[in-house]
Amino acid sequence: MSDQRVLIVDDEEPARQGLSEIVSNWGYVTETAADGREAVERVDSFAPLVVITDVVMPNLDGFKLLTHLKTEYPETAVILLTGQASVDAAIRAVKDEGAFYYFEKPIDMRRLQLVLRKAAEYSSARRENEVLRRQLRQYGVFGEMVGASEAMREVYTMVEQVAPSSVSVLVTGESGTGKEMVARSIHKLSPRVNQPFIAINCAAVPETLMESELFGHEKGAFTGAADRRIGCFELANNGTLLLDEIADMPFLLQAKLLRVLEDKHVRRLGSTKETSVDVRVIAATNKDPVKAVQQETLREDLLYRLNVITIHLPALREHRDDIPLLVQHMIEELSKRHNKPAQLISPEAAEMLLGYHWPGNVRELRNVIERAVIICQGEQIEERHLPFNITGQETSPTTDAVMIPIGMPLDEVERRVILSTLARSDNNKTRTAETLHISLKTLHNKLKAYKEAGSEKDEG
Ligand SMILES: Nc1ncnc2c1ncn2[C@@H]1O[C@H](COP(=O)(O)OP(=O)(O)OP(=O)(O)O)[C@@H](O)[C@H]1O
Ligand SMILES: [Mg+2]
Repeated sequence: MSDQRVLIVDDEEPARQGLSEIVSNWGYVTETAADGREAVERVDSFAPLVVITDVVMPNLDGFKLLTHLKTEYPETAVILLTGQASVDAAIRAVKDEGAFYYFEKPIDMRRLQLVLRKAAEYSSARRENEVLRRQLRQYGVFGEMVGASEAMREVYTMVEQVAPSSVSVLVTGESGTGKEMVARSIHKLSPRVNQPFIAINCAAVPETLMESELFGHEKGAFTGAADRRIGCFELANNGTLLLDEIADMPFLLQAKLLRVLEDKHVRRLGSTKETSVDVRVIAATNKDPVKAVQQETLREDLLYRLNVITIHLPALREHRDDIPLLVQHMIEELSKRHNKPAQLISPEAAEMLLGYHWPGNVRELRNVIERAVIICQGEQIEERHLPFNITGQETSPTTDAVMIPIGMPLDEVERRVILSTLARSDNNKTRTAETLHISLKTLHNKLKAYKEAGSEKDEG
């Protein structure tokens, strides 16, 4: 509360001093200005969350001050104080000019106190938002990729370094971490940018069709091959080919692929002619490539050929500090796309997103935000707009922690710790009792009590 600043503007000295005193008694830090022009000078250094201003003043009146503030400091809330003569204009200022509220004199102080609190809340949420936006502009984006963490910067650097050449790149990382995005960014930053970018998902194409998909076929090459077909390699000629889920490509075909990569010629199925191709290949996998080699789903020689350069994308839980930036970026993008009002997220909801372990990584985060943007009717996304698996989880698998809000009754704290320890030790009561330094008998008694309390609740 102590750094919530309010600027009070009124040309009548006793009025502004009186109001300033009252407002500072409510716990705000106040400053005063005698007219609009003085106020304009003050806001730069004082940076108030809220400006309470009289309307009729010499030099610069309240409406002009409002216009100035809305262009220069759009996150500052402005409350207008009007005499009877300018009530209509004040109503319009609230409706069309972005004033937060207006009061007709004499001012109802109880009401002002309430409105002021709302205005300060609104404005500080907006300001936080503005800080994020600036961060994003300054250093948090790389093309379409968002994230300012050390881990993401390393990724950007790698992308920049490999883009100009035609070396093969292997992109690894869990599902939803942005592997395809990296592949597209490499293409966009490369001299091949105006040539095709073709992506093929090796896990999605049936094994029997894979070869023809990659290399093409002539009419009648096999049963069902009614027409001649161009394969991905030829389609991507002079451009970039992304082989997604490379470890899911049929093992035998991997040998053929390797040969194409080495001599840069493809032969369509059913054809005797070879065509030369110039394709930059980027491969991606969400598996550990070394393990895939051990399990014989990925050929070792192909792996060596592909991973001249490896770019590894961190799981989202390994760069949580990027979550606020990502969220802000996604809210803006998705509310524009769906034509929705959401612009910010409440601190509580943001906290929930930070604490979650994100098994589906950035894709999952994006889906959560998209859903929230669609169902949120107002400007701010709240906890209730988030799915239950995020807000309702009591324990976090990555940190082995239990959520204990301040003020939770001690019995409940004990119950949560006991039950989650039990769950974490696969229901092994002896181990749970040992871990918690209590006797097995005590544990049994407690569990029995919880059970009874639970069934009482069910009946009641
Ligand atoms: N750094 C990022 N900034 C913004 N959006 C991102 C970022 N990383 C991923 N995304 C978004 O997350 C989604 C998943 O990204 P992408 O398809 O590139 O992941 P992937 O690693 O290829 O996933 P999969 O292994 O499941 O194919 C996309 O909607 C993408 O726009
Ligand atoms: Mg992908």
